[in-house]
Amino acid sequence: MCGIVGYTGMRPAVPFLMNGLRRLEYRGYDSAGVALQAGEGLLLEKQAGKVQGLADALTERASVDLDGSVCGIAHTRWATHGPPTQNNAHPHLSKERIALVHNGIIENHNSLRERLRADGYEFLSETDTEVLAHLVESHYEGDLLVALTAALKEVQGTFGVACISAEEPGVLIVARRGSPIVIGLGEDETIVASDASAIIKHTRQVIYLDDNDVARIVAGDVEIRTLDSTPVSRATSEIDWSADAAEKGGYEHYMLKEIFEQPETIRNTIRGRLDSDRGTAILSGLNLEARDLADIQRMLVVGCGTSMNAGMVGEYAVEDFAGFPAEVEQAAEFRYRNPIVGSKDLVIAISQSGETADTLAAVREAKDKGATVVGLVNVVGSTIARETGRGVYLHAGPEISVASTKAFTSQVSVLLMIALKFARSRRMSRERGMEFVREIEALPLLVEKVLEQNDRIAKVAEQFADFENAFYIGRGYMYPVALEGALKLKEISYIHAEGYHAAELKHGPIALLQDNVPVVALLNHGPGKDKTLGNVAECQARSAPILGIITEGDEEARSCVDSYIEVPYAPLHAAVIPATVALQLFSYHVARLRGCAIDQPRNLAKSVTVE
Ligand code: M6R
Repeated sequence: MCGIVGYTGMRPAVPFLMNGLRRLEYRGYDSAGVALQAGEGLLLEKQAGKVQGLADALTERASVDLDGSVCGIAHTRWATHGPPTQNNAHPHLSKERIALVHNGIIENHNSLRERLRADGYEFLSETDTEVLAHLVESHYEGDLLVALTAALKEVQGTFGVACISAEEPGVLIVARRGSPIVIGLGEDETIVASDASAIIKHTRQVIYLDDNDVARIVAGDVEIRTLDSTPVSRATSEIDWSADAAEKGGYEHYMLKEIFEQPETIRNTIRGRLDSDRGTAILSGLNLEARDLADIQRMLVVGCGTSMNAGMVGEYAVEDFAGFPAEVEQAAEFRYRNPIVGSKDLVIAISQSGETADTLAAVREAKDKGATVVGLVNVVGSTIARETGRGVYLHAGPEISVASTKAFTSQVSVLLMIALKFARSRRMSRERGMEFVREIEALPLLVEKVLEQNDRIAKVAEQFADFENAFYIGRGYMYPVALEGALKLKEISYIHAEGYHAAELKHGPIALLQDNVPVVALLNHGPGKDKTLGNVAECQARSAPILGIITEGDEEARSCVDSYIEVPYAPLHAAVIPATVALQLFSYHVARLRGCAIDQPRNLAKSVTVE
């Protein structure tokens, strides 16, 4: 949520900052800005709207100072405090000598603002960030690290911050608590950012700051302290994916590229993690011995949005195959309802970004209560990955589209492997385990078969692109698929779509059905199919057009619906993946026909780092 970039070195800063902003735009696109050390002072340019608007403004004002600056900060914003206007855009300046960009929320901004106003500071924006800029200035006596440290000690809330002063040429100060800051180490230069995709083009050597770290960076030198001024060293890591992975690679949208990557990303997720001879999964990152597995009495999955929907598949699979209680819970609710969690519980935190504030809060709550907490995270080195300290990386590569696709299928793949591992440690036979391994290994092929139907799915989408409301229904394993399908459609096409258990529709929502409210029915072959067909008939009796997601060759299902998309046969726990991919493509084509900003839907941001 929001993107930060900073550069200090020997070369002009603007190309680094602008390239970084473009890479981070998926984190927020309400406004963009840069501040540079230029001549004796600071040069500021900011614009409401996308990064391109800022690029145009910089081109217009081209100057020697701008081109010659070798130190600066930049930001792309997802609005929290104050609408997406130019004044509310970052960077924020204080007394023309401090410039600051910030991700997160300063919770005590009202009381600090009152105090600073009384001290004579003038506010130009409605943001909490401008409060922080003035607070830093109020502590400034020539050493920006000291001033930022003092200011952050007065702050409640979360922050990833980068700031510069007009009086300290080449000095860039960054700090974090709750919002990530990655420091990319070059030769005689350093580029900092809120995520590695802004850095990868320049260097793979990075340092991830810990919470409450503050760093002073000058060209290639990095000095890190904690907020209580203790010097610390943080390990250097190497980014293990390439810059190409974060490019569109010839596709019209990142979302489409990421949908098409799924056979490969699932292969990457399961590679080396299945033991076909013993019929089990090898998930050493969980760090759970046989004794630990036997001790676990319940699995609790926490996550948000798509990650939570994947979690529900995990809940079903663990209960189904391992035979012990599992539950999925909205991470946002977990922390505030005083959940009963203890040392016999395994809590699985699922997050593509590894930075979602609600999920992170749930992780901390579960740890405080003594549970064993593991992370299922895609972004290596992210906060949830580090705070859980154990878990399974998804290895899906960078997911840039705001709508999550390949992360979901990798999350489900890992959850199926967890279910297998637990099942084999309890009640599943070796033979069934071997078969289960084959079912997981077949997933990439199943996805390929769905992708082959892309053109046909695009045609089907034409029949549904003009509706303004839709319902998705499913049972059993297809219920989370219905939730995920509806989420995908609403976030990128702005069609109001609701996922419901197929049986639940008649308890209220059916009142809304008419000939302009379609129902997407998950009719995959399996125990719930006949009952769902009954529900489909109830919808048709109310004139709702029906799109069926059906198993390939299922004549009966085909004859009961108005339109259909076929997915290859698989046992239901595995069929989740091809069915979801079909719905991803369906949403994509509907959104495209409606002319929507698919990769950057309105009001959304890729990683949600505020509660
Ligand atoms: O990074 P996370 O997986 O923790 O993100 C959770 C949700 O914000 C995310 O899945 C969101 O719902 C997506 N935009 C859905 O496509």
